[in-house]
Amino acid sequence: MMSETLLYSGKAKDLFSTDDPEVLKMIYKDQATALNGKRKEQITGKGEVNYEISKLIFAYLSQQGIETHLIKNVSETEQLVKKVTIIPLEVVLRNVVAGSFARKFGQPLGQRLEQPIIEYYYKNDALDDPAINISQATALKLVTPTEVATIEAMTKQINTLLIKLFNEIGIDLIDFKLEFGRYQGRLILADEFSPDNCRLWDQKTHSSLDKDVFRQNKGDLVTVYETVLQRLTKMIGGFANV
Ligand code: TMP
Repeated sequence: MMSETLLYSGKAKDLFSTDDPEVLKMIYKDQATALNGKRKEQITGKGEVNYEISKLIFAYLSQQGIETHLIKNVSETEQLVKKVTIIPLEVVLRNVVAGSFARKFGQPLGQRLEQPIIEYYYKNDALDDPAINISQATALKLVTPTEVATIEAMTKQINTLLIKLFNEIGIDLIDFKLEFGRYQGRLILADEFSPDNCRLWDQKTHSSLDKDVFRQNKGDLVTVYETVLQRLTKMIGGFANV
């Protein structure tokens, strides 16, 4: 008999304890939010499609040598993951100008950046996840300088791997958000990778294949996410059997 207690309820996922203190169960929810949770909607099928996409991407990254928290996929929306201590930073990498970067700096949407940009946001709902720099984050002891170096290196490596993967299925990886956790003295990739946390533009049509369809009411979220899933499944479906 599993003793499961809800430990954390996020915008798109819930985390439960399991009988093993080192293992948590992560459940993907049918909820979409925008404006840092101020707009909220139930969308049937979203949890499952995000689970499937994240499962494929994490399996792929793991196969390419990136350590992740994923242990095992349990059911259509449930994964067992390693219990990590989450670094309270959202790590955003941008390859192309979009979203808040376009707005904040008045830059033209879709302009490719010469070098990827990495930004950090302090994961704190009460403060609305403010932008934070490394000097601030280390002063607040959210992360150590050594950890920052690892986070940057892993984020760039993941970017290189995923640009290539998405390119092979006709998609440009515009930007994405990652989270990392401490696990047995190492940093490993945690959270998820799905169209909720990245921007994906179709190379032919330039249309969004990500949460911008929800943010900007540009189409049906699940249909769009399923396009991404189908293309990924054709490419790397075999990696998913972890
Ligand atoms: P932004 O352009 O709104 O700053 O977002 C950059 C990328 O980070 C985009 O792919 C969406 C992702 N992101 C999250 O996953 N969670 C967040 O809370 C925010 C603000 C962005």
